[in-house]
Amino acid sequence: MKESILVTGGAGYIGSHTAHLLAQKGYDVIVLDDLQYHQPFNCSCGRLVKGNVGDESILDGIFSENTIKAVIHFAGFIAVGESVKNPTKYYENNVVNTLNLLKKMVEYNVQHIIFSSSAAVYGIPDQLPLSEDHKKVPVNAYGNTKLIVEYMLSDFARAHDINFVALRYFNACGADSENGLGERHEPETHIIPLALRAVLCGEAFNIFGDDYDTPDGTCIRDYLHAKDLASAHLAALCYLENDGKSDFFNLGTGKGYSVKEVLQMIEHVIGKGIKVNVCARREGDPSELVADPNKARRILQWTPSFSDLSNIVMDAYHFELFLKSKQKGVELIL
Ligand code: UFG
Repeated sequence: MKESILVTGGAGYIGSHTAHLLAQKGYDVIVLDDLQYHQPFNCSCGRLVKGNVGDESILDGIFSENTIKAVIHFAGFIAVGESVKNPTKYYENNVVNTLNLLKKMVEYNVQHIIFSSSAAVYGIPDQLPLSEDHKKVPVNAYGNTKLIVEYMLSDFARAHDINFVALRYFNACGADSENGLGERHEPETHIIPLALRAVLCGEAFNIFGDDYDTPDGTCIRDYLHAKDLASAHLAALCYLENDGKSDFFNLGTGKGYSVKEVLQMIEHVIGKGIKVNVCARREGDPSELVADPNKARRILQWTPSFSDLSNIVMDAYHFELFLKSKQKGVELIL
């Protein structure tokens, strides 16, 4: 029987970019996604099984009817603010359902898993750039769920024949509008799509605080294109296929941009001004998060190639236009 890669959450933002890349590279991809955020499923990404990772009978079906070589586990909730208000939702989906997946992997002898972790595991940095051995003290329930799964992975790898790679994403952004892939979070909370929508609708963009201890007073983040995140998952898969040992890697560029610098880039790329409204700080926002990406470069032999900020903004802009054109039912040629 041919071997397949199971991609949970493969209809979501980063999952769909990765599933698409794997399919392009000739892997047989099975996407498990409950489509609860109403993402469309792009058939070029593989076969779709509609369902939830917490559903044991669905996992039994997938694992017994296919030879799964590796699982790439994206399915999870991502809204930091919501995780603070509703931790049950986050522990159930991000932790309990992942435990269910790991149990089934052991039962069916599936050896490899790549997990979507987050820079949120570090909490407030003591030192920048953040290297993988920086202390981990998450400051919200979302970060706690990611760190708990990292512990679970280590314990399962110790006890069973399982190897994992946990990838700690910094700020995922950008899009692949040619293939209809991009951010469709509901509600959207991320800076680039929100700022683009503000420009396109002529509304003001809310800056969450300009009194941070940074050169221009706004928060600094490390922005990584979703296509580069996808190529990092491919690199991690090759690493595990070649007997790489279980490990944790940051995924970022190593370069930070402030909120104001991102807005300036958007103005430059679109050629329109952005109205801004400076508001209070958003709870739980560290002033600066920048990755030390050297471990992933060295061990996974991965380097970002789409993450120049102007390229990220251009691609995200094209995706917003693509979404708008779909709403209006017109075809847009980019
Ligand atoms: N921001 C604004 N206004 C907005 C939205 C964002 O000023 O309307 C600012 C934020 O305060 C922050 C920066 O833009 O300083 C980036 O914010 P995002 O919401 O785009 O991203 P975050 O850095 O908050 O979150 C990202 C991931 C999370 C992950 C976190 C790890 O999206 O999933 O990094 O620290 F948990």
